[in-house]
Amino acid sequence: TRVAVVGGGQNCEHDVSLASAASVRAALDPAVYEPVALTIGRDGRWLDGDEPLGLSPAMSLAAALQVLATCDVVLPLVHGPRGEDGALAALCDLAGLPYVGSPLRAGALAMDKHATKLVAESAGVRTARGRLVTSAAGVVFDGPVVVKPVAAGSSFGVALVEREEDLGDALLAALELDDRVLVEEVVAGREIDVAVLDEPGGGHRTGPPLEIVVGGGLFDTTTKYDGSATFVIPARLTDTETKALTDAALRVYEALGCRGLARVDFFLTADGPVLNEVNTMPGMTAASQVPKMFAADGLTYPELLDLLVLAARR
Ligand code: DAL
Ligand code: MG
Repeated sequence: TRVAVVGGGQNCEHDVSLASAASVRAALDPAVYEPVALTIGRDGRWLDGDEPLGLSPAMSLAAALQVLATCDVVLPLVHGPRGEDGALAALCDLAGLPYVGSPLRAGALAMDKHATKLVAESAGVRTARGRLVTSAAGVVFDGPVVVKPVAAGSSFGVALVEREEDLGDALLAALELDDRVLVEEVVAGREIDVAVLDEPGGGHRTGPPLEIVVGGGLFDTTTKYDGSATFVIPARLTDTETKALTDAALRVYEALGCRGLARVDFFLTADGPVLNEVNTMPGMTAASQVPKMFAADGLTYPELLDLLVLAARR
């Protein structure tokens, strides 16, 4: 089975996507799979391995499509905008290529943290109270807030603002990454992730919830990748808490129309789960949350990839 593993991408998570793609290629069973490494450069030009496929994004995309057409399945591992937001799903749909993961609509809704909140609330899942702003002007500080770009990932552009004098800089930094920014109340709760995977026979499987323990401060871009955060799997939860979290994850997954897999991130408060965000193509290195959650449930990383590829071909 020829699997096109697409990594890189034109956003701040480029390196994270490269790591996911490299890890997946290495884990695909060589007796079954022939991985084809395609990379989208930061400038939008596609590469086949290390080989640039063209002088412009458009020319290289045309060549990349010829390579993709020789593959049985596409595994789009580009996190963030112009990848996980449905762009690659749309490309595959237009080209009639089977692909792993969510279709355009779910990718686009989940990449938009504001739209995600509206969908989640309408499905009965709580989210943080917040405001959507499009400029730093006139935003009033009314207590500690989290400032985040509507569409970005790996916490790039996210800041916890505790002092009024820091709000302006935080807004400008977030507005560098998106022209829409969320200013949200700080949710006091434990950070718990739930992984959802489509079952081969239909229905969904959730992995054991994972708790992120950061030694003080935010699970931000630094602590996400410097190894200082600890994952506790399964998170120490009561049965009631586990059920509330997995029910909420499944409700959001279905309401958004996700497919294949997703990681649904929550804050667990004294009043139950509050949705933080949904990743339709979460980090997929062997050390990332989703592979670790399923591994704790007896599903190895290569087996997880098998299921994803199988689901794409059905
Ligand atoms: N956006 C990063 C890759 C994650 O959610 O794991
Ligand atoms: Mg994310």
